Amino acid sequence: MDQNILLMTPGPVTIESDVLLAGAHPLRHHRSREFGQLYSDCIERLKRIFRTQQRLYLTTSSGTGVMEAAIANHFSPGDSILIIETGKFGERFTEIARAFKLNVIPLKYPWGHRARAEDIARELDRNPLIRGVTVTFNETSTGVYNDPTPIGKLIKERPDVIFILDGVSGFGALPFDMDGCNVDVAISASHKGFLSPPGIGMIAQSDKAFARMEKTECHGYYFDLKHYVRNQALPLPGYPWTPAISVMFSLHSALEKIEAKGVDSICSHYHRLAEGLRAAVEAMGLRIFTQPDARSDVLTVIEAPPGIPPSKIVKEMYDSYSIMIATGQGEITGSVFRIATIGAIGERDMIGTVGSLELVLRKLGHLKEAGHGVAAMLDVFAHSA
Ligand SMILES: Cc1ncc(COP(=O)(O)O)c(C=O)c1O
Repeated sequence: MDQNILLMTPGPVTIESDVLLAGAHPLRHHRSREFGQLYSDCIERLKRIFRTQQRLYLTTSSGTGVMEAAIANHFSPGDSILIIETGKFGERFTEIARAFKLNVIPLKYPWGHRARAEDIARELDRNPLIRGVTVTFNETSTGVYNDPTPIGKLIKERPDVIFILDGVSGFGALPFDMDGCNVDVAISASHKGFLSPPGIGMIAQSDKAFARMEKTECHGYYFDLKHYVRNQALPLPGYPWTPAISVMFSLHSALEKIEAKGVDSICSHYHRLAEGLRAAVEAMGLRIFTQPDARSDVLTVIEAPPGIPPSKIVKEMYDSYSIMIATGQGEITGSVFRIATIGAIGERDMIGTVGSLELVLRKLGHLKEAGHGVAAMLDVFAHSA
């Protein structure tokens, strides 16, 4: 197997080899003191990174599992929920909520546009029966960043409404303050901003959401957070089922590194990489799909040049340069490709990716000469060093 693939995808991301190797630690039984300490320390570190003093649980799942847990634990069939759709992952919340027989009120934005707090306030005023709002922090399909601050402010004033934020691709990569933003349920997963292999979901819960959960019969068993609450309260904090023990070792190693570097400095690093990539895209005569006021630093969604299928660009990047970038998703699958600027990556990886992309675009007939993209990126890096 070729070990030398550079993952420039928005999850899983490139991770450091010592984080991977930490997962090769001899297994510890999940009822042992050693595992209990590892598990509790992961939770405490994540609470600091989420900036919450409330509750946080870990699940053995990907991000979709904690999306499901957020719905199953806080709503009953027939409850009304406002789902903000700024792309495919907003739509996924609609699908999950419908599977749990909720009354979904979707608020859809054209792809590439961000959500606006004033629209959400209007919907809440119009529908006093709404009991929750879901928002996608970083919409991975469209490259849109949705600011939770003004949304949290208006939901805080409504005691019967809880605010669910999908941070699967955003937490650890974009500045976030759960308690400061009045988020009630904040979800994420190990394999994006937390720089670890896939396998662990994260779900943090405010007092307001906890009170809601206590009054709600969970529709499901595995993700019933009441099991998690009980097990975490044991003298040796535990996990209700068999956890992803090896991934927990890797996650712990990654969290130690993230805290040592500081989340703010990691976010600034990603911002710089994203600024460099955005400059390169424009210098290559390409267009960024996402609206200028909505662009996230997690990834850049790029329109393929007319007549060149994005899947061809993605395939050439992989076959010729061992660089994995992503195709589009949903309704824009046939027109865009996506490059992430998160993970254990730096300027060298960005320069290699953009240089390779220029060679691919030259081969496919879009560019007459290569080098303008890299030059624009180097200019950004040189001026922000
Ligand atoms: C914003 C967002 N939410 C949810 C998910 C679903 O996560 P998973 O694929 O880990 O189930 C993803 C995955 O890319 C995502 O980017």
